[in-house]
Amino acid sequence: MLRFLAKKIIVKNMSNVKDLDSHYLVNCIPIRDDVVVRRAYGIKIEDESGKVYYDFFSGIAVSNVGHLHPKVVEAVRKQLERYDHVSMLYYSDVVVELAKKLAEVAPNKLKKSFFCNSGAEAVEGAVKFAKKYASYKGRSGLITISFYGSFHGRTALTLTLTGQGKYKAKLGNFANYPGVIHVTPPYYYRFGGGMDEKSFGLWAADYVAEVIDYFEPDSVGAVIFEPILGEGGIIVPPDTFLPRLRRITEARDIPLIIDEVQTGLGRTGKMFACEHWSIEPDIMTLAKALGGGLPIGAIVTSEEISSSLEPGDHFSTFGGNPISCAAALAVLDIIREEKLVENASSVGEYILNALKELEDDYEFIGEVRGKGLMIGVEFVKDKDSKKPAQEIAQRIKLEMLKKGYILGVGGIYKNVLRIQPPLIIRREEAEKFIETLHETLNVTKMQS
Ligand SMILES: Cc1ncc(COP(=O)(O)O)c(C=O)c1O
Repeated sequence: MLRFLAKKIIVKNMSNVKDLDSHYLVNCIPIRDDVVVRRAYGIKIEDESGKVYYDFFSGIAVSNVGHLHPKVVEAVRKQLERYDHVSMLYYSDVVVELAKKLAEVAPNKLKKSFFCNSGAEAVEGAVKFAKKYASYKGRSGLITISFYGSFHGRTALTLTLTGQGKYKAKLGNFANYPGVIHVTPPYYYRFGGGMDEKSFGLWAADYVAEVIDYFEPDSVGAVIFEPILGEGGIIVPPDTFLPRLRRITEARDIPLIIDEVQTGLGRTGKMFACEHWSIEPDIMTLAKALGGGLPIGAIVTSEEISSSLEPGDHFSTFGGNPISCAAALAVLDIIREEKLVENASSVGEYILNALKELEDDYEFIGEVRGKGLMIGVEFVKDKDSKKPAQEIAQRIKLEMLKKGYILGVGGIYKNVLRIQPPLIIRREEAEKFIETLHETLNVTKMQS
């Protein structure tokens, strides 16, 4: 009884968000940065003490159009005055308008959309579509080929697809969906093995062909790949890799799923990252930035794959939610009107080049890489051993936080600083950021 009363008193006294967070939220969320959010707008986040941060992580690559873009807010408000959730059991104008717009901007043959609520749901659905296509063609399609270092989500199938042990190590047999096979990622810096970059790209794609042929093409339902690995450490494949992988999968009529959940919608300086290598996937997954801060996911696919599905094969209660679709329509307009793809390309190029210039000055910088506003700095103990330096990435992230910059850390070895600001960022803001990061790198150099 006394213990119960004591607990009640403690809970009553907890006015602090951080205390309430640790008391009431399930203990599975990654350790939070010490920021209690009061407001977010544009490229900035303000905490409860009034300190303003530049958001260089965009809520994990979501806020491409910035936080609370007035056009997104207006689109949501207007939609709420018309109708909210009704479900896709009825026809809805905003849903079809969004599907039409996606068909206009997506790679040529991707004309059909299915809407869901998150990245994991989009990936899970994409594999389901590919498997249905296999069965429609009279094949088993049991195997799905994914890549080590990839990240595709946290549900049973998507976590199985995710090629990073650290996300599954302590989860028993949860991430054990049958038929998933992992292959070597086109991560030249770590796995190049003495080859030149072009040859390595071809080798990595040809290895996928060998795996497909070993199991026989009829048993492979799909190959899934992130065109730039995001969580895995902003890994940009050699230019030879994706065109070759496309030819290999096409020749065997195996759907290539390109997971653009993180790379899509302008992030890499193209509307979709697969455009950097002029390839068209059979299925593309989107989420994150699409809703401008509201939850939405999309599977965009070809007429052919779409026609292998029948009414009732797939559905989601909230899929095609009109509020999220209205926000997504505004996001697509903003990206075009404000030329955010072009801005991501030019400001991204500035940041990438500025950091590349610093690469040789620091023994602990292994590699700077990226495209557009998806940039990673991989930290190592020293350039020769390339041993991952997780603690340096973490230290720099925390120092930058003190100086008012929110950044991410990722990578297979958690040693990659992730720089992914909203695409509305201005050149002057990027210059200030580089100045601050340079200072921080110097302090870290002196201390290490
Ligand atoms: C490439 C990729 N796919 C899928 C996902 C999963 O998305 P969500 O967290 O919305 O389920 C992520 C999330 O980071 C991702 O980066």
